[in-house]
Amino acid sequence: MEQHQFDMVIRNANIATATDIFQADIGIRCGKIVALAQSLLAGAQEIDAAGRWVLPGGVDAHCHLAQPTSDGSVMADDFFTGTRSAACGGTTTVIPFALQQKGSTLEQAVRDYHVASDGRACVDYAFHIIVADATVHTVETELPDLIERGYTSFKLYMTYEDLKLNDRQILDILSITRREGAMSMIHAENTDCIAWLTERLLAKGLTTPIYHSLSRPSVVEREATHRAISLAEFLDTPVLIVHVSGREATEQIRQAQSRGLRIYAETCPQYLFLTADDLGSDGFEGAKCICSPPPRDEGSQQAIWDGLDNGTFQVFSSDHAPFRYEGAEGKKVAGEDGDFTRVPNGIPGLETRLPLLFSEGVLAGRIDINKFVAVTATEPAKIYGLYPRKGTISIGADADIVIWDTTQKRTIRNEDLHHHVDYTPYEGREVGAWPAVTLCRGEVVYRDGEFTGRAGHGAFVRCERPKPARPKSRLGRTLAWLDVL
Ligand code: URP
Ligand code: ZN
Ligand code: ZN
Repeated sequence: MEQHQFDMVIRNANIATATDIFQADIGIRCGKIVALAQSLLAGAQEIDAAGRWVLPGGVDAHCHLAQPTSDGSVMADDFFTGTRSAACGGTTTVIPFALQQKGSTLEQAVRDYHVASDGRACVDYAFHIIVADATVHTVETELPDLIERGYTSFKLYMTYEDLKLNDRQILDILSITRREGAMSMIHAENTDCIAWLTERLLAKGLTTPIYHSLSRPSVVEREATHRAISLAEFLDTPVLIVHVSGREATEQIRQAQSRGLRIYAETCPQYLFLTADDLGSDGFEGAKCICSPPPRDEGSQQAIWDGLDNGTFQVFSSDHAPFRYEGAEGKKVAGEDGDFTRVPNGIPGLETRLPLLFSEGVLAGRIDINKFVAVTATEPAKIYGLYPRKGTISIGADADIVIWDTTQKRTIRNEDLHHHVDYTPYEGREVGAWPAVTLCRGEVVYRDGEFTGRAGHGAFVRCERPKPARPKSRLGRTLAWLDVL
């Protein structure tokens, strides 16, 4: 039998990384990229990219799969359907959230999440951890232990009754993530303003989905973003502000970055492609677009595009939080008459994230192809300690690769998607790019409209710590010298 040097060769690839564009064949062996050259010997299998764009598989650094809820709703996607959908949209690594329950430990959350994911995932995955109960044990013992074991990013909420932490608790956690060189991700909305306004809206009978948006105005996000940045500056530690929706929060982040602070930021498709008007349709339908922070207006959409282009945002994630529209477990868990506070928050988007950004970003000339790769793959992989194994095309990297078809227009229809949600907010929208082939560690998991992967191919990937934070500000240096950090 003929022996091949490569398990797979992708020929005639027009490769883009976060920095380069070049034409090459890609040689793959044992799930890794082992050769990049103008002309490689034959592989056991071959795919002709025929000059199409060949990019690193997407890293979706913010999605929710099989996450427990507290209101009787059930997330529509588990690790199988969620990662199947990811693969079909060109994403080969996902980082969902292991949620700590109040009264329980982080350790338990991580154990439960491994049970939910083991043998179920079709693409690779790591975990962020949501810290919901900041006890002394959690903060001082569990955080360092988990960081050591490859769980190096923690989401902290400034809002939601059952998840929110106060500033003092956030400081406690930031001081540990700082010391251990881990990353804190902050959901920045001012919870008291939201509660105050919500009470008044409901008292007036203003209960339909559009009032979700009114109850969480931009200023609420701006204030919390400013405060999160200030807490990070106070302790001289990096933080990442997740799912930034509005112009005002974007300005806060940009200003902090221009002062040299290590503030990272993420945005999502809903803030580019939806507005508050999408929550305002007659009846209950607007519930499909309820998420927090809510989509804003066209001015904010432009600010988010600018922020992607000028580097304010390093990360473009889906924040896929899947709830079905019909049935009693999803958006209608409290019935169609339930007020907006009783609608589960979140929008599906794992599969549509990359095609939407490729079409409206790259093909429409708003960002270049290198920026697309940076914000959808390379930067999230770097920030969360997965690079260079994930997020790029280079020798030694995992063979997570997408060949893109930009030759035909396609209309997004939920019936063509592979998640278990019964709608997409992007129904009927036309896109000019869609993956033709997705490979995850050398295995073809999607090809020409068909999911070809399998549950259990996806593996857990441990995150390395980003480099330890060094004191940067004068206050940081002083506090470090006094040994109080
Ligand atoms: O509405 C949203 N974003 N739901 C998911 C949970 C979160 O805060 O990320
Ligand atoms: Zn959030
Ligand atoms: Zn989220």
